[in-house]
Parts: sequence; structure tokens; C-alpha cells
Amino acid sequence: MLDLLITHANLPDGRADVDIAIRDGRIVEVAPRITGPAHATIDAAGQLVTPPFVDAHFHMDATLSYGLPRVNQSGTLLEGIALWGELKPQLTADALVQRALTYCDWAVAKGLLAIRTHVDICDPRLLAVEALLDVKRRVAGYLDLQLVAFPQDGALRSSGAMENLRRALDLGVDVVGGIPHFERTMADGARSVQLLCELAAERGLRVDMHCDETDDPLSRHIETLAFHAQRLGMQGRVTGSHLTSMHSMDNYYVSKLIPLIAEAGVNAVANPLINITIQGRHDTYPKRRGMTRVPELLAAGVPVAFGHDCVMDPWYSLGSGDMLEVAHMGLHVAQMTSQAGMRACFDAVTTTPAAMLGLEGYGIAAGCQADVVLLQARDPVEAIRLRATRLAVIRRGKVIARTAAATAVLDLPGRVGETSFRI
Ligand code: FE2
Repeated sequence: MLDLLITHANLPDGRADVDIAIRDGRIVEVAPRITGPAHATIDAAGQLVTPPFVDAHFHMDATLSYGLPRVNQSGTLLEGIALWGELKPQLTADALVQRALTYCDWAVAKGLLAIRTHVDICDPRLLAVEALLDVKRRVAGYLDLQLVAFPQDGALRSSGAMENLRRALDLGVDVVGGIPHFERTMADGARSVQLLCELAAERGLRVDMHCDETDDPLSRHIETLAFHAQRLGMQGRVTGSHLTSMHSMDNYYVSKLIPLIAEAGVNAVANPLINITIQGRHDTYPKRRGMTRVPELLAAGVPVAFGHDCVMDPWYSLGSGDMLEVAHMGLHVAQMTSQAGMRACFDAVTTTPAAMLGLEGYGIAAGCQADVVLLQARDPVEAIRLRATRLAVIRRGKVIARTAAATAVLDLPGRVGETSFRI
């Protein structure tokens, strides 16, 4: 007896009209037609069933704090960091947990069931670390949260940060973070990359660094990150997040850099919504877009994920946990408008970040976790175009969120009575 049978599903890899059988929280079979009794059946009716959305880069300790204690007037990264510094002493564990849990509700409703979140470790109280570890335990039944120990004010620049970072790892934080472009000097930035990579290698942990989140074309810490990833044998376990300076770099230098990133097995994360709003703020016209070189990295074989980064916080005033909105912006900024390009943007919020996070049993195949999302769209391109409604979000074979289909009722002479925005 199956627990759940999903029929007539389209899959992101192009397979159409297949059935998905689920028992004991796992997918047991994917085939054109599955017969057999099931406690429940969902007819996908030719719409897309995808593994859940995954956010490779987020800041859950700051989320939903927009306006506290004031709004970022300049819209720059640096005012955001200063504003976060004003807010930090006022944070309470309870308020932080409540905001994070609210965001996780939004995420689940949008089919976003795995998030890698950075957590600032520069406050010696480690209040945010303990709060997010609590949140991680509380949401574990429905959402996978992976924490990165993030020295927001600089691992070397902020006194005690390295020690706080070690303490955060001891408490159970999963990944080593960094912010080399915010250290006092280029040399300190490079030294922080080395120390943090060595710390991660010692402990067998992954690395995910904010790296070169600047318009300065000479910010080249990604080169150092790739060097140490290669030297320490950490291929596939190191991620460079943002990499926005690559947007402004000299093309000749990039022609050397991208193969080095690929050779070192370093992953890249672009954060399109925040990159397009924060970067280029010192430009008049033309204004740089500031997003890293996504198509070129992909062409070289570098895995590139898109992250949300921020939702309603000191850096970004908008957002709702919708990774299709992130993919939509990424597609536009990177001009990835070919069919293959648009599908790669869908992968950048699903399979690619799942591999970066090392999620176990992710996908739609026999043996995988029964975590899937039914979208009101027929394929990944339509899903991005419509930022499609998540009709059903399923975790371990159980429906945990539903949203009514987006259909407009029309009253027009001589026209059909409704539209779902599809031809
Ligand atoms: Fe970030």
C-alpha cells in the first residue's frame, strides 16, 4: 500500500506524464503509469512536479527586521553593515527566533525546503548563533537549515572574531564563512581566507565565503579561495558567494581566473536581487549591474546557484522567500534567455544548490526523500515566467502547504471567462 501516488506529472528534466509512488517518506518508483492502492492520490494533470527549492545563501538572523532601528538610506552594502551594527545590541533571542520562524513559514509556503543561512558570530554573546540553532531544531521536521559561521565585521578586523567563530562551530554550526573584502587590507583578506580554509579542512567542514562583494575590479580574493581549496584538497566543498567584483574585472584576468575556479572545484553563488540593487551605487551612467559572470562560469563547468541573500532586512526591503523570483531576476540580469539558459536558472534554485549543501536523497527518483512541489506550470521555463503558484508542497510524503491556483475570472464580451496566463 502506497502512502501517496502522484499521477500525470511533468518533471524538470523533460519527462512528461509520469507517476510518482511514495511510501514511508521516500519515493519508491517513478514510471509512466503506476497502479496500486494508495492512501492518497494527487493528479498533477500535466503540471510540473519538482524537487523543492533550495536557497544557497541567506541571512536568517537579520530577516524581517526591515526598519529596525531605521531604514538604509543610501542602499549600499556598507550602510547595511553599519545599520546591522546598530541593530545587533538590541537583538533578543526571542524576537530573532520568532522572525526566523515566520520566514520559515513563508519559505515552506513557497516550496523552499532547504536554506543555507549565514549567522553573524561577531557578537561574543553568540546570541544569534544560539537562536538559529534553536530554529534549526524547531523546523527540522519540515525544513533543512544549514548554518554558516559568518564573521560579518571581519574575521581579523573584528577583535575576537576567530575565537567566536571556533566557539560557534563547537556549538554545532555547520560551515565556515568569511568576508575577505571587508578585512582592513588586501593582505589581511588573503590571510583570512587561508586561516578559515585551514580551520574548515582541520574540522572536515565546508567553506562558504562572502567573497569580493564589491565593485572594485582589483578585489581578487576568489583567486586566493580557489588556491587554498585546491591546496587543501577541498574540491566541491568550497563556495564563493557573491563574487561581484568579477563583473568589473579585466577580461584578460578573468580568462585566467575562471579556469582556476573550475580546476579547484569551487562553487559560485550569485544573489541577483541584492546584487542588482546594491552594486553599482557609486556609478553615474552607465551603471554596472554587479552580478558575477554566471553564463561564463557555467560554461567553464563551475556550479552556479542563485541565492535570495536577504528578505526585508538592512540590505533589502523586499522579498517573500520565492526562489522563482530570484531565478527570474537572475535570468534577466545574466541575459540567460535561451531555452537552455532559462532551464539553467531553474537548476540554480533547485539541483545545483542541493549539491552545494550536500543534501541527502534530493531529487525525483526511487530512493529519494519524498520531498516535492507541485507547481501551476507545465515546465521550468513557465514556472519562472509566472513565478508559478505552489499548488502543493510535500515533505516526506505529506502535504505541508497548499495554495489555490492563480486564475483570474473575466467578464468580457465575447471572451472566455477566465485566464491562468498561459497560451
Ligand atoms: Fe550574504
